[in-house]
Amino acid sequence: MDALKHIAIIMDGNGRWAKKQGKIRTFGHNAGAKKVIEVTKRVSQLGIKYLSLYAFSTENWKREKSEVDFLMKLLSKFLKKELKTLMENNIKFRIIGDLSKFSKSLQNVINNTIEKTKNNSGMTQILAINYGSRDEIIRAVNSIEKETITQKDLENALDTKDFCDVDMLIRTGGEKRLSNFLLWQSAYAELFFTKTLWPDFSLEELDHIIMNFKQRERRYGGI
Ligand code: IPE
Ligand code: IPE
Ligand code: MG
Repeated sequence: MDALKHIAIIMDGNGRWAKKQGKIRTFGHNAGAKKVIEVTKRVSQLGIKYLSLYAFSTENWKREKSEVDFLMKLLSKFLKKELKTLMENNIKFRIIGDLSKFSKSLQNVINNTIEKTKNNSGMTQILAINYGSRDEIIRAVNSIEKETITQKDLENALDTKDFCDVDMLIRTGGEKRLSNFLLWQSAYAELFFTKTLWPDFSLEELDHIIMNFKQRERRYGGI
């Protein structure tokens, strides 16, 4: 069995979860944020080194301004609240994505969380915000001052340079696509798609997916 070092999750379905109960979409985002804490704790307790969570894509700016504004406020509130969990569970916090589009105050909250947790030695929680693989790859390529670049050069210039490749990628919410998430890093990831909407995702289902992962044979092109 291959080691499971890096789980990535496309946390989709918050809006539909809220709609199903006759509530507005933002209600689902609040529930989704609570779920992040629950899942993060479990993954860290399992001794898995990296957990990457897709929270806001480079394409999500297309949404109505009111929803985007809500998500930005939620992110800041969430980080302030999550710090306690991160410290209690020895979790390091990192982000991937282009921070420059965020307000100075949100950038401060993000950097403060990174700074306060930087000496934690357990799991690393990686939040993908204003993240898109294509944007990440282009930023990386433009930062390399070499005429011919190798795979290693590119990897060392990606936002994920400090982390290993994705072993398991889970998408909740029923869609079977990657939506521009960790395309390079998931080249040999095992993919899991579930119809469960993110706020309904349970630790039992997570355990079940991990059990299933352990039964898969990863050949990497070999035999
Ligand atoms: C995922 O849930 C969270 C974000 C993209 C911020 P959605 O908001 O995409 O929920 P659905 O897919 O519309 O149900
Ligand atoms: C992917 O979900 C992005 C996040 C979960 C943050 P989307 O809801 O934005 O993806 P599409 O639009 O269905 O592909
Ligand atoms: Mg969605």
